[in-house]
Amino acid sequence: MNIEVLSIPSEKPKHDSYDLVIVVDTLRASTVIAKALYNGAMGVYPASTIEKALKLRKLIPSVVLAGERKSFKIEGFDLGNSPLEFTKENVEARNVVLTTSNGTKTIEKFKGYGKLASMAISNVKATANYSNSKNFQNVLVVCSGSHGEIAMEDFYTAGKYVSMFEMPALNDGAMMALSISKEAPLKILKTSHHGRYLSEHGMVQDLVESCVKIDVVPILKKGPIGLIFFGR
Ligand code: MLT
Repeated sequence: MNIEVLSIPSEKPKHDSYDLVIVVDTLRASTVIAKALYNGAMGVYPASTIEKALKLRKLIPSVVLAGERKSFKIEGFDLGNSPLEFTKENVEARNVVLTTSNGTKTIEKFKGYGKLASMAISNVKATANYSNSKNFQNVLVVCSGSHGEIAMEDFYTAGKYVSMFEMPALNDGAMMALSISKEAPLKILKTSHHGRYLSEHGMVQDLVESCVKIDVVPILKKGPIGLIFFGR
């Protein structure tokens, strides 16, 4: 098995296609996508911009409109981007449209490189089990980072994934990610730049919530009228 880790989305992948492409935005888009599906959302439609999210809402008026800019809920939206908001009560049996500053943009950029999954600390194990069950040989893990910079928490999540396989062939990004994967998750989240930003803005509970393990693998699928969404 080959695992290639890109530390930020602007890095160039080695190949044009992979068996599986895993987008990581630990704080918080990937955590939110997993949490929404875990709590029974029918699908999560990623939108790279607020305009695209509003267009999706027009097409499917019943959706829950969610997302953030600078980590705060967008004016007029139903939910922000805190995993704590994606409760059964808010999302069960509903479709969610999500736009975030980094994660949903990474998804847009890499959706053409192969089957695409979203991964956070909460569902690393489920994603590794899924990869094993499908016997994927070439996997690309793309860390979303933060506004063009490396985000330690994404790198950490990528490393945790790498650590779950025996003797995979790794690029340097994957080896570096692996080297921090033994740390405790909450320590990484609390130390990271974005984790500190969220804590300073009253969202420390989101870090704790991001560590709760959930057994779900969000896979990007084609839906009605060609729209793409995350389903299980
Ligand atoms: C992102 O996509 O950049 C994040 O999910 C931002 C956030 O913490 O809300």
